[in-house]
Amino acid sequence: MPLVHPLDHQVAVVTGASSGIGQGIALAMADAGAAVVINYHSQEEAATAVVEQIMRSGGRAIAVKADVGSEPEVDQLFDKAVEAFGRVDILVANSGIQRDATIGEMTLDQWNQVIGTNLTGQFLCARAAVRLFRRQGRDERRSRALGKIIHISSVHQLIPWAGHANYAASKGGIDLFMRSLAQEVAEEGIRVNAIAPGAIATAINRASVEDETARAKMLSLIPYGRIGAPEDVAAAALWLASDASDYVVGTTLFIDGGMSLYPEFRHGG
Ligand code: BGC
Repeated sequence: MPLVHPLDHQVAVVTGASSGIGQGIALAMADAGAAVVINYHSQEEAATAVVEQIMRSGGRAIAVKADVGSEPEVDQLFDKAVEAFGRVDILVANSGIQRDATIGEMTLDQWNQVIGTNLTGQFLCARAAVRLFRRQGRDERRSRALGKIIHISSVHQLIPWAGHANYAASKGGIDLFMRSLAQEVAEEGIRVNAIAPGAIATAINRASVEDETARAKMLSLIPYGRIGAPEDVAAAALWLASDASDYVVGTTLFIDGGMSLYPEFRHGG
């Protein structure tokens, strides 16, 4: 029988959870019984609103400000999680930004910001989670795994993206970081996996989703014919965090309506 609250007695840290995909994942995990740490970078009000929404439905959550690219701030994020809820069982490393420019125009600052948040941020959070999982030890009443890490990547870990080389490089980096880490810590019972979302309607691509021409162009790249919602990604994250996926290690789930299937070829090459 499927569990109604598969994450009961577990604690999830979700980075970049004040909006978009992170927010969707945080709400779904709270609904599934987890206490959730809503990490945010600058949107304090939005983060507080997510916490309030969770508490109104009888869940547990706190908001914690931290820049995931900063070593001391990431350490504090995990300290605050433990202070509030006693432990951490699940990390969803979700924070991601775009600073788009063609290569001749791309500044070092745009490059460094994207690598700093999207790739270094995932390293710092994953390292903090692994260290904590090791200190906590296994508790099979909560989960068969010692801990679970879910990296949020992008279809652009696979699909090259002209005009966004910094972003694509960061996501390609996540792929091999995730698989190397999964291989390294699996024997301890830590499950590391990733999700590669396609075009999900959030603030990051609002301009393309809201402009009629850009939206039509985006839709032409999605065989399934619709732009995704944060809930589409959240359902996959919930599964990867729960014991239902206990034998899934080092995998990337593409949640993209088929965007990664070379859609230009769908009517023959
Ligand atoms: C990007 C979005 C884009 C989508 C599909 C995501 O990773 O952040 O801006 O719409 O990939 O190209």
